[in-house]
Parts: sequence; structure tokens; C-alpha cells
Amino acid sequence: MSVRSALVASGKIYQTRGISQRVKQISISAIKEMPILASQVGDCVSLGQGIPSFPTPNHIVEAVCRVMRNDPDCGKYSLGPGMPQLRRAVAERLSGQIGRAVDGDTQICITVGAMEALLASILTVVERGDEVILPSPNYASHIEQVLLAEGVPIFVPLQPGDWQLDLEAVRTAITPRSKALILCNPHNPTGANFSASALRELAELAIAHDLFIISDETYDFLVYDDQPHFSLTALPELQDRMIATFSFSKKYAMTGWRVGFVYASEVLLDHIMKIHDAAAICAPTLSQHAALAALQGPQGCVDEIRSALRARRDLTCRRLDRMQQMFSYVKPRGAYYLMARYQAPGVDSMEFALRLLREARVTTIPGAAFGPDGESHIRLSFGGSEEEIHEAFDRIERWLSSDPFP
Ligand SMILES: Cc1ncc(COP(=O)(O)O)c(C=O)c1O
Repeated sequence: MSVRSALVASGKIYQTRGISQRVKQISISAIKEMPILASQVGDCVSLGQGIPSFPTPNHIVEAVCRVMRNDPDCGKYSLGPGMPQLRRAVAERLSGQIGRAVDGDTQICITVGAMEALLASILTVVERGDEVILPSPNYASHIEQVLLAEGVPIFVPLQPGDWQLDLEAVRTAITPRSKALILCNPHNPTGANFSASALRELAELAIAHDLFIISDETYDFLVYDDQPHFSLTALPELQDRMIATFSFSKKYAMTGWRVGFVYASEVLLDHIMKIHDAAAICAPTLSQHAALAALQGPQGCVDEIRSALRARRDLTCRRLDRMQQMFSYVKPRGAYYLMARYQAPGVDSMEFALRLLREARVTTIPGAAFGPDGESHIRLSFGGSEEEIHEAFDRIERWLSSDPFP
């Protein structure tokens, strides 16, 4: 059963007459639909959508309050690509991160979260019939955005043993119609942190086959176990074919402020900006002030978020280890998700997640939402508090002890 049919069954009717083919063929991702279903079920605990439990740090909130009191322009549109001081602060930070000069005036556009940055980037380079290579499993919204651009998602399985890139499989998937490759690293939904050597090889493939790379860097700050994080943006040879999208959402606990940015060459950015202008005009000005305060303020909050999430990852793994007859998983090295493979022959991931929701009152995301290789898994987010994680696993354990799959 799909999320859509579950919603139809629950009384939400879909009318399709007059609706464009472009829109008919996409759906709201299961990541966003499962919480809607959960609100209908009531009293659910969530391991579903990736909303970290932390409040926005106080110094960011205070800075925005000061701006609201003192700056009459804060309620007005900013320049389309964003406030110049924010673009420059972003460029300075990014340049330090990737070890190359970044020009805030020509290579950065502030967007309505990474989500708008991704959609604008995909619409800029993908046209009808273009093949776009996506790892499978992969972030569900990348799939819908490619379909919205009338591109064709080509799923390339990650290695199931460690969810690392399978370069041979990528090579085989490339055809004369291949246009772009979309990769998020650290990876949602598997928690993989892709190796620098594999990413360098991927870059060589992109150059050899004239592909764009859209690099989703939403979790660039979030790797565990003292591992290095390698970003494709560090490779100058990709300059003309690289679009990278970033987010303030998770790094500074700002999911609701809706602010992110896109980094690309001036030439590419000029085109991306046309979509940004048509879709959003500019990112919310107050949120841009919040982002500026985040960049200019103390960075201890980022370390605190990282170490709290590492502890939650370890807790999630410990709780899963107590249910080894039902679940197996690859330990996440980054982001705050894991794909739990379940043992319930003949039960698809949608049915598994819906039964967990209705019978155990725990929200998870069916793995199939992330591409064909997500089937037989559920995605668990450990962004919630330790209490929530304990409560969710207590409920799952009680549910399993009732022998739900006799
Ligand atoms: C991989 C990935 N990309 C993009 C986004 C969207 O980020 P934003 O809140 O900045 O739009 C998310 C949110 O969960 C994500 O997991």
C-alpha cells in the first residue's frame, strides 16, 4: 500500500482532472506524509521526520529580536540573491571549509532552505527525458524534484554491506542521455559518510561523461567517530559542472526558519537565480538575519548538537541490538538516520511502517520511499530526544512481543 492510498483510504481524496502530468506523477514524500497519518492516529512517538529536538540557540533568537526592534528594513524583501553581508559571511565560512576562494557576490545565493536550492538547481540543468543518476536508497525529495523537472531518475544501488558508493554500478548506469548526478553526503537516509577516494572517482566519471553534479551538503557538519568529511566542492576541476546546496536547518537547529544557500559558478548561478526569483523572490529577510547571527556567533552550539546526536546514535544502535531477530543495520557515520532492515518475509516497507504506526504508535518512514533499494527497510531518525527514542523502542519491543507476524 502506498502512502497515497493510505491517505485516500483515510478520507483524503485526490482529484486529478485538469492537473498537469508533471504534478500528477509526483507525490508528497512519505517523510512528510507519515507525520500527517500519525496525527490522525494520535499519541505517536516519532522516529520519522528528521526534525532535531533542539531549540534555535538563544544568541540567534536574541539577534533577530534586536533586528526586529531596530531595523525597519527587516520586514522588507532583501536583494534577490540575499543580503550582501550574509552572502559574504557564507562565502568566507565556505572558503575556509573547502580550502578555495568563494566569491559571495557572484557565487552564492541565499535560498528558502536547501530544498529550494535543490529544486532550483535541478530545474536549471535537467530537462524532459534527461537521466539523472541517484544512489538508491536516497533522499526522497531528490526523486520527486527530478520527476518534477520531467527527468528520469536512474537508481544506482549503494553497497548494502556499508552503504558506500558502488562506482562500477555508477559507470554502468551512465548512458548518452545521462545529464546529472545527485548526491547527498553525509547521506540521508543511510547515515553513510562517503569515502574521499570514491568521491574523487565519481568526479572523474562526471568529467569524462560531461555530467553535472548536484551535491547536497545539508549534513556537512555532522560526521561522527573523528572521521574526515570530504566535500566534492573542494575539487576545482568540477567548477563548471558543480552545484552545491547547503542548509542552516540542522547545523543551527533552524529547520523552521527556512534558510539555506546554493554555491555554484557565476554562470550557473545566474541561471539558478532566475528560478529563485520566479519561485521565492528572496529568502525570508528575518531568517537571513538569523543565519547571519548563526555564522557570526559562537560555534559551540554546533559541537553540542553533534555530540548530542552522536549519543543518540549510540543509544539507537544499542536499542536495535536488543532486537537482532527483527532488525539489522549499518552503523551511521554521519547525519542522523539509519536504515533498519527488518525480518518479516512478504511484508513490504509501507505495510511494515503503517502497522508500526497503527499498532505500536511509532512513526517511521517506509524504506521504499527512498528508492527501490530501500525496500525491506524502515528509516529511523535519531533527531528526537533520548526520552523519545527510549519510548519509541519500548513501544516497538512491546509490539514485537505480541508476535505481529505469526
Ligand atoms: C538530504 C537533505 N537535503 C535537504 C533537506 C532540506 O533542508 P532544508 O531544511 O534546508 O530545506 C533535508 C531535510 O531533511 C535533507 O535531509
